[in-house]
Amino acid sequence: MLRNKNILIGITGGIAAYKICELVRMFKKNDANVKVVLTPNAKEFVTELTMDTLAQDRVYIEQFNTTDKKPEHISLCDWADIFIIAPASANTIGKLANGIADNLLTSLACAFTGTKLIAPAMNTGMWENRFVQKNISALKNAGMHIVEPESGFLACGTCGKGRLASVEKVFNEAALLLYENQALKGKKILITAGGTRENLDPVRYIGNYSSGKMGKALADAAYNAGAEVTLICTFEETKPYKTITVNSALEMENAVKNEAQNANCVIMAAAVADYRPAECSVSKIKKDKNEELTIKLVKNPDILANLCKNKKQNQIIVGFCAESDDLIENAREKLAQKGCDFLVANDITRKDIAFSSDYNEVYILSKDAPIKKIDRSTKENIAKSILEIIFKGENSGN
Ligand code: CTP
Repeated sequence: MLRNKNILIGITGGIAAYKICELVRMFKKNDANVKVVLTPNAKEFVTELTMDTLAQDRVYIEQFNTTDKKPEHISLCDWADIFIIAPASANTIGKLANGIADNLLTSLACAFTGTKLIAPAMNTGMWENRFVQKNISALKNAGMHIVEPESGFLACGTCGKGRLASVEKVFNEAALLLYENQALKGKKILITAGGTRENLDPVRYIGNYSSGKMGKALADAAYNAGAEVTLICTFEETKPYKTITVNSALEMENAVKNEAQNANCVIMAAAVADYRPAECSVSKIKKDKNEELTIKLVKNPDILANLCKNKKQNQIIVGFCAESDDLIENAREKLAQKGCDFLVANDITRKDIAFSSDYNEVYILSKDAPIKKIDRSTKENIAKSILEIIFKGENSGN
């Protein structure tokens, strides 16, 4: 699987740098091509000679190399299928999170638009520092993959979290990303997430408890698998793919109509309000004027059902189904009523899954295959499994 893959490994100045010798060997043993870039500080921990002997290629350190026609931070970016930074020091993480490019490694990270895998390693206090954690969140939000450090005995003599994850773990994560990167290449996937808000007046709305976590996990998983993703959601989100923020069901319908035209697949994970207030007051509704208040509601369009009616050729349409009673029976009915290709059903009464939880357990119904259950797992894992099932028929040529 790794044969002829181009692996760019960036090493920063930390004691765990010596472990990367083994990582380079693992890739070489698996017939991958490896190039190594060192920060100036990394040279204090590993030598150029060690690294270029293991990688069987010269090591890259200098930001300004006058012999090459194309600057190295561009030519290495064109070459690499993945950029692994291990160990990633707190200093380099801070630079990556803020777009600072003051050496070859950070310039590469700034210019490289492909898959980045970051394996931090540092002292526990540094790892737990709130600015470091803020930077890690920023890297995650920008679509970079983090291999969390492990807990254990650290080189500084203390015990705690901060030790570089095992090189096997970094290697496996990279291999998985390289594999996943291929799976949905060329597909355009539209996903909706979150609960719509139906305004009553400028300060109040009718809403629901949907957190949007499942939709976001699906969008991330599709993006990581190489798809061109658009996420229509009811919250602000900074992602490496296109996001559109909407408020109400009508706004969501509009955005979905525009974006679904060219999509190979539409996944309606959003909790769309079935009704909206017939009128939205321009001014705040005052309590002194009303002893009782009756709100008239009118029906919202069913975005999913309308999508299915106007389905494009070869388009896959997936609905979600949140139920509190008779999950499977209601889901079967909904699949038929809406006319979608797949319906992902979950039980909203369970406290250990669904709304706001980081976990879920779902059943996937489709027109012609038996029901599949995906056991309780993180929403990230559930998202990957859903995408696998949806696109399985396609990839196997069925
Ligand atoms: N949905 C939609 N437009 C609506 C309501 C729901 O597109 N106005 C979509 C949801 O995004 C979801 C699916 O329909 O993919 C099922 O939503 P759900 O709330 O479970 O069912 P409803 O169709 O709203 O029916 P009910 O509330 O009566 O169970």
